[in-house]
Amino acid sequence: MNDLDSLVEAAQAAFAAAATPAELENAKARFLGKTGRVTELLKSLAALDADARRARGAEINAVKQRVEASLQARRQALADAELEQQLRAQALDVTLPGRRRGSGGLHPVSRTMERIEAIFGSMGFDVAEGPEIENDWFNFTALNTPADHPARSMHDTFYVEGGHLLRTHTSPMQVRHAVQHVKRHAGHDTMPEIRVIAPGRTYRVDSDATHSPMFHQCEGLWIGENVSFKDLKAVFADFFRHFFETDDLAIRFRPSFFPFTEPSAEVDIAFPSGPLRGRWLEVAGSGQVHPNVVRNFGLDPERWIGFAFGMGPDRLTMLRYGIGDLRLFYDNDLRFLSQFE
Ligand code: FA5
Ligand code: MG
Repeated sequence: MNDLDSLVEAAQAAFAAAATPAELENAKARFLGKTGRVTELLKSLAALDADARRARGAEINAVKQRVEASLQARRQALADAELEQQLRAQALDVTLPGRRRGSGGLHPVSRTMERIEAIFGSMGFDVAEGPEIENDWFNFTALNTPADHPARSMHDTFYVEGGHLLRTHTSPMQVRHAVQHVKRHAGHDTMPEIRVIAPGRTYRVDSDATHSPMFHQCEGLWIGENVSFKDLKAVFADFFRHFFETDDLAIRFRPSFFPFTEPSAEVDIAFPSGPLRGRWLEVAGSGQVHPNVVRNFGLDPERWIGFAFGMGPDRLTMLRYGIGDLRLFYDNDLRFLSQFE
């Protein structure tokens, strides 16, 4: 083998040994770079005479072309290998099953709240919202329940800084809403009736099958110049028939006491037939708004009269779905909750 053939072989071996494009460029420099072996050979031609230079020059150029060709081949091989590796790394298994989008659903109590708003909306009630962190005035005092009133002990709650508390019922919204309503119509000859519901979260130190420490109430207030207990009964009868989608239920007004209504009644319902047959469950408190509270609305109790109620959407949800313990609604067990979707 002559020196030129062995030079080509050395270059091919060096290129083959290069595992990366950078190593290959280094190997190239050793043969084709400014001081590379092929370049040095070309420089040596200068020492030859013209005939010998032509012959030797042709041989060296042939060597240079073979080295360049094998460099190009190795470059391509390395690029192919890299592409191959990338494709393998990003391989998609198109036979895998697709990822399904989990479908959510409304919480059963949220469904109840939506039904309540829709039904009362159809009876001409507005919907108002108010703060869950209340102050003493709206939660108690304005509702005819001064600081030393024994009725306060039934509303044990969580107090936060600055004399605020987690509201124990939605009744503070009676006062908040009525005061706004009266302000809005101040200076006008007539004031439209107040007809509003106020749904939301409420809090008490309570826990058993029909009581949860966080629960929901929906307040109702209807104040006009000629609104009576009869209207309260009609509203409840209508509401429950629509809510439970049946006429087959009994409503009982049980005399009770609230400082902010007089007279007052708890509202119980029972189903004469079906799986929930025979058991009365209290679902609301209600009554004719006390004159002192009407005064705190900014209205004259000699002229303005009406009723209020506060019902328990969690209890309504229990009855609607036949659930025995309302705390299940708040355990966040998806096996339970997904039944209602
Ligand atoms: C009240 O809270 C009065 N504010 C209702 C009222 C409003 C009376 C306006 C008169 C005029 P009571 O404590 O009874 O009343 O609660 C009303 C309803 O809320 C109950 O009938 C029940 O359905 C629901 N409720 C009360 N406590 C809980 C609780 N811990 N968990 C779930 N539901 C409850
Ligand atoms: Mg009650």
